[in-house]
Amino acid sequence: MTTSTILVTGGTGTLGKLVVPLLREAGREVRVLSRRGGESGGGVTHVTGDLVKDEGVEAAVEGAGVVLHLAGGPKGDDVATRNLVRAARRAGVGHLVYISVIGADTVPLGYFRAKLEAERLVAGSGLPWTTLRAAQFHDLALTVVAKMTKLPLVPAPGGVRWQPVDAREVAARLVELALGEPAGAVADLAGPEVFELAELSRGYLRASGRRRPMVPVRVPGKVGRAYRAGENLVLDGAVTGRRTWEDFLTERVGGR
Ligand SMILES: NC(=O)c1ccc[n+]([C@@H]2O[C@H](COP(=O)([O-])OP(=O)(O)OC[C@H]3O[C@@H](n4cnc5c(N)ncnc54)[C@H](OP(=O)(O)O)[C@@H]3O)[C@@H](O)[C@H]2O)c1
Repeated sequence: MTTSTILVTGGTGTLGKLVVPLLREAGREVRVLSRRGGESGGGVTHVTGDLVKDEGVEAAVEGAGVVLHLAGGPKGDDVATRNLVRAARRAGVGHLVYISVIGADTVPLGYFRAKLEAERLVAGSGLPWTTLRAAQFHDLALTVVAKMTKLPLVPAPGGVRWQPVDAREVAARLVELALGEPAGAVADLAGPEVFELAELSRGYLRASGRRRPMVPVRVPGKVGRAYRAGENLVLDGAVTGRRTWEDFLTERVGGR
């Protein structure tokens, strides 16, 4: 097994912050790439760069044996990944690990399309690679329901279900993959339960001791059809996380 530096793009984000300490526990030197950077120390070196603008990417990749590509945002994952792949090829990276999303190939939204294109770029890079698709993290579910439940009437989009997963479990799986042999597309990782979005909101309201009226809404068009068909879910064959939404709410919001 190689013991060279591991580059974690987006190592300051929700997922990245969980991945970096696990790599350190495994005794690996870590370099983190983000636009805003962070304080280096304890075996972690922060470098700044912008994957979308293609700034600082070559320097970040230089000498890294493994690249864990976690940087992402609502837009531009395809562009960012193209730039990263180009630099990684030049640097002769030994293993490129990518985090994608369940439904990348089926949900007709820009974010999912960009993730699918990024997956293709990774798989076609000519570099040894591993891609994990995960469901939405509990953290994202919390952000979404916290926003929705601020509205006087909480939207309850009929048939839209999520299978949220704990980001700590995604982080642990990614580290296992990054320290292992390149494995191509591995089994999806989703949470242990499937919820209608309205149920997620109800759980959050209960946990925060509040009440709010809900109003049924229908997500129109192709996107609505894809969600109602469960294209963003893995109802069989997935590796499922263990930590539940309820437990996460208890940790973050408190008891009911
Ligand atoms: N959140 C979910 O539910 C979920 C589910 C499945 C898959 N994923 C995927 O998991 C990955 C991480 O998600 P997350 O929720 O941890 O995201 P996040 O909290 O928004 O963190 C994004 C990270 O990427 C960095 N970044 C963003 N744009 C960049 C750019 N142009 N150049 C360099 N660094 C950049 C950010 O730092 P700066 O802002 O300082 O640059 C930050 O470190 C993403 O690829 C996402 O698509 C997320």
